[in-house]
Amino acid sequence: MEKNKVKNKAIKVFTPNATSQLVVEETIRLIKKKVDVLDLGCGDGYIGLNVFKKRRNKIKSFSFSDLSQKATRKCAINAKKAGLKVIIKNGSMFDPWKNKKFDFIVESVSAISEPVAYWSPWYNKHITCKAGQDGTKLVNDILKKGKKFLNKGGKIIFPIVSLSNKDKIIKVAKKNYQTVKLLSSKSWPLPKVLYKYEKQLKKLKKKKLIEYKKKFGIILYSSYVFVAVK
Ligand SMILES: C[S@@+](CC[C@H](N)C(=O)[O-])C[C@H]1O[C@@H](n2cnc3c(N)ncnc32)[C@H](O)[C@@H]1O
Repeated sequence: MEKNKVKNKAIKVFTPNATSQLVVEETIRLIKKKVDVLDLGCGDGYIGLNVFKKRRNKIKSFSFSDLSQKATRKCAINAKKAGLKVIIKNGSMFDPWKNKKFDFIVESVSAISEPVAYWSPWYNKHITCKAGQDGTKLVNDILKKGKKFLNKGGKIIFPIVSLSNKDKIIKVAKKNYQTVKLLSSKSWPLPKVLYKYEKQLKKLKKKKLIEYKKKFGIILYSSYVFVAVK
């Protein structure tokens, strides 16, 4: 009975996925000296809190923000459970961080093609993805504005999922940062619930708004983790 109740409850905070884990691993590798870090689009804090746990002695301050109040509340609970002292703010994009600067920004704000997001198991009316048809709207805005929130030589780490227009994002990153480097990439099977939208997915792919491959009947999409240096 209790089990069913939990199962039927709509998920209200983004559930960290394989891409989140990839971002954690690459960010841990990059942090070498004492830094101020921002986890932007933190959700329940999965990325930042796991990085903080592994690099405790290298963190001057760790800040978190998300548009969703439910997410930032969950992040605060998780930080407390882990015994980590963090700064958590609620708000859209960089709004909560006026006049602040960081050495590292780890951003993972919703960035997949909007229709795909709402067909997928990852998003719903509580977890928004106002990223546009090609998924680039929010991440490109972050890349353009991010420089202002980075110290000299500061780094922004961002994942790109191939369910968005990857080339358009890279173009904006290259225009705004000194260097842009691919840290890692992996392919994953598309969640089964998306197969019933294959016709629509094909149309988006034809328009070059998203990219995926089909091998032996399995649809594979990819995640990439990039770092850009100011
Ligand atoms: C892909 S999830 C990543 C969550 C978390 N970092 C993780 O990996 O589990 C995207 C997050 O971006 C947040 N988001 C969406 N639009 C936003 C905006 N305009 N400003 C800040 N956060 C936003 C969502 O609420 C969601 O928590």
